[in-house]
Amino acid sequence: MANRVTTATLRAMKEQNQAITMLTAYDATFARLIDQSGVDALLVGDSLGMVIQGNDSTLPVTMDEMVYHCRAVVRGRGEGGRAHVVCDLPFMSYQADSAEALRNAARLMKEGGAESVKLEGGAVVAPTVRRLVDAGIPVMGHLGLTPQSVHQLGGWKVQGKTDADAERLVRDAKCLEEAGAYALVLETVPAAVADRITDSVRIPTIGIGAGVGTDGQVLVIYDLLGLNPGFTPKFLKRYANVGETVMAACANFKSEVQERAFPSSEYSY
Ligand code: KIV
Repeated sequence: MANRVTTATLRAMKEQNQAITMLTAYDATFARLIDQSGVDALLVGDSLGMVIQGNDSTLPVTMDEMVYHCRAVVRGRGEGGRAHVVCDLPFMSYQADSAEALRNAARLMKEGGAESVKLEGGAVVAPTVRRLVDAGIPVMGHLGLTPQSVHQLGGWKVQGKTDADAERLVRDAKCLEEAGAYALVLETVPAAVADRITDSVRIPTIGIGAGVGTDGQVLVIYDLLGLNPGFTPKFLKRYANVGETVMAACANFKSEVQERAFPSSEYSY
């Protein structure tokens, strides 16, 4: 706990030009491993609706599910863990009104053990951000390709490509900063636009598909590990091919069982 990364640490990292690292985690095992790797923040992302639950968007994820996964991640990170835990507010848990947003954000912290929450959107959610921050709940914003609006956006498309859209993103970022957000995720925007936003605000920006100029980077852990071989967006670098390792290990298990080679005496009582 003594050297736990806090929202203040993340802000100081921007000031000191130290790159912030964040990865998603959805369970205790990955949370423990990622924390021990030294990554600064664990995002209990509502991307779990896709990579864990198999939905084609994040929209079906419920508050109860986010609380459940958050609690597992916090347990895995452990009391002595270093990484900050930030948890997504799922679709329609904060959009209707800020009183509901406050109740739901409080659940992520009280029941889930999150240290901050993340929500999507620009100027329109700024009053909600202010309400949460005034209640003592640190908020990370999320701009650009906001997955909860995928149907409104017409698909998984790069955002901020026109001058007007880029302007709006810069305005949204400033609005969120003014409302008290402590950091911003920038998803799938041109690198030049992410750079402009990063220079326009004093809070850290954490990019995914937003180029190298943001103050930090975030990836979905299953994508980074190569657990979804069919998912190949331009921004994604695979740091391992764990999917292939899993399939090879399972096939090996199957053939050894069929050959009656497993369990040998070494693995028997
Ligand atoms: O839900 C999630 O995993 C996210 C990241 C893609 C930033 O919001």
